[in-house]
Amino acid sequence: MLIVANWKAYVEELAKAKKLFATSKRLAKATRTTIVLAPPAPLLGALALRNKSKVAFSAQDVSVTDGGARTGEIIAQVYSAAGATYAIIGHSERRAVGDTDTTVAIKLAHSIAQGLSPILCVGEKERDVEGRYLAIIREELTLAIEPLAPKDRMKVIVAYEPLWAIGKDAEHAIGQNDLAEMVLYIRKVLAELLPGESTRNSLILYGGSVEPGNVRDLAGASGVDGFLIGHASVDSRMFSLLVKQLA
Ligand code: PGA
Repeated sequence: MLIVANWKAYVEELAKAKKLFATSKRLAKATRTTIVLAPPAPLLGALALRNKSKVAFSAQDVSVTDGGARTGEIIAQVYSAAGATYAIIGHSERRAVGDTDTTVAIKLAHSIAQGLSPILCVGEKERDVEGRYLAIIREELTLAIEPLAPKDRMKVIVAYEPLWAIGKDAEHAIGQNDLAEMVLYIRKVLAELLPGESTRNSLILYGGSVEPGNVRDLAGASGVDGFLIGHASVDSRMFSLLVKQLA
């Protein structure tokens, strides 16, 4: 299982970041889970540079630019130089402040060019009875992945994060059956976008109110390869419990 801890802007200081990192190192040793931490950029720089542990690091976003006179931008190459090996792209909280399908596609390409494994976030705002949400997921996947070279399309990790389920508690997460259906649907769309049989190796994650109380249920039989965890990843106790549920 791949567990991506999206610290968002919850972690404000190095001491707390170090504590969470230490917890993750212990968990990665004691379990078979692959843990990826996505701290705010300066904290990533402080933790990831000389990292020799099994824990990996991810950017929360990368710049749509490729450097130069762009004050405030953090390009994929900088994340890579700082020790990141993954990048979250197109998170709904970035889409809410300006990311479009076009910028998401560019960011995906920048990440891959710098050797970062991109975690592409897709998700509908609401579930409608007509099933329009399926078309939204198809469109987000297609517009992001289709511009990539076929050999690069296989590198994309998909994180299904329905907006209605983000930042709440376990009760508001998706149900196991609905998740299983969505994972199948995403695999079907990927099969159309990816060359040959390669979709079988594509990783699909779920994110949105994953907590210790529902993670095992969501993992069982749904076909997901892992989770993108927000609020439950910045509380050492909660995160340990959650990872142990999957071990
Ligand atoms: P949440 O966030 O676990 O707090 O719902 C998930 C995410 O936005 O990646």
